[in-house]
Amino acid sequence: LPTVRLVGIGAALPDPCLHNDDLSHIVETSDEWIWPRTGIRERRILPPQLSVVDLAYQAATAALAQAQVHPQDLDLILLATSTSADRFGSAPQVQAALGATRAVAFDLTAACTGFVFAVATATQFLQTGLYRRALVVAADVLSRTVDWTDRTTCVLFGDGAGAVLLEADPAAAADPLQSGQHGILGIELRSDGTGSELLSLRMETEARSLVGSLQVGQYRCRPITMNGREVYKFAVHAVPEVIEKSLFRAGIPAEAVQGYFVHQANQRILDAIAKRLQVDPARIASVLEHYGNTSGASVPIALADWVEKGRFGPGDLGVMVGFGAGLTWGSIVFRW
Ligand code: ACO
Repeated sequence: LPTVRLVGIGAALPDPCLHNDDLSHIVETSDEWIWPRTGIRERRILPPQLSVVDLAYQAATAALAQAQVHPQDLDLILLATSTSADRFGSAPQVQAALGATRAVAFDLTAACTGFVFAVATATQFLQTGLYRRALVVAADVLSRTVDWTDRTTCVLFGDGAGAVLLEADPAAAADPLQSGQHGILGIELRSDGTGSELLSLRMETEARSLVGSLQVGQYRCRPITMNGREVYKFAVHAVPEVIEKSLFRAGIPAEAVQGYFVHQANQRILDAIAKRLQVDPARIASVLEHYGNTSGASVPIALADWVEKGRFGPGDLGVMVGFGAGLTWGSIVFRW
């Protein structure tokens, strides 16, 4: 199979910033409550005049610039989002904005695991040889979907986008010294729909009389609902297991990994995962303090942060991990 390398990374975060102290003017909460329980101090909010496509475009442009690849050279664009402005899909709008005329583009929804599922999906297209270059973008604007009167959810989320460029490298696969040593090394994905009630962004169906006795269902979007305690228990139990399985597949011990890029939901969840894996908590990237939970975008945002700060670079081993609504969760081991 061709080696699939990560060759570019980018992130985009809106400027407007909402601090915990600002939130205390909106709902009955405080920095003293939020910070120790979550590790979050502030989050970014996308202004109403901008869309999820604008955010995705910015992150995509940054990843392409880093890799020095022209949009015309893209074969595939996957947009992982749960907050598309158009439920028919937004990926083709990102493709049009980039001018990536050769690329096929489609959306993929798997909540906070969307990015990891999309990287796994793109990898299959590259390994079969059908495509050579794939751009995976994760963008979410959960600020538009939370109930701003519900303090148990509105303090957790923020807006953002991240993108990676993946490239098939058949030459590396043919070289016995390089084969199996670089790029995507191990993938492990999971779903469990029996837990769908724990976290949802549901469309409610309201009955409406159409003509005579004929009724039609009409959708109405409900804000995010979450059972925080149960999501916490699920995460600290399921996530270490899926990480260990992906590392086993890649034949890599947990302590050899330089950076764990785990979905940024809560600092306590990240600390519990480090403990379960018996790895140094400093190897688990955290950008929660400044950005909160940016859903599907949080993994590439954390990776971009470490790459920009020089904490993660060429030759380093990393693990990208998503978990969230569905329930869905998954882990991908890679060498940068
Ligand atoms: N400010 C002040 N008080 C609050 C707030 C708030 N923002 N939110 C809840 N409280 C109150 C509750 O009303 C409750 O009060 P009561 O005892 O009088 O009823 C008390 O604080 C305790 O509430 P709990 O929900 O039990 O608090 P807990 O210690 O479990 O912490 C938290 C809540 C931080 C949400 C935690 O459960 C958690 O992090 N869970 C994981 C959630 C998560 O990660 N979600 C996203 C993952 S997937 C995805 O990203 C989509």
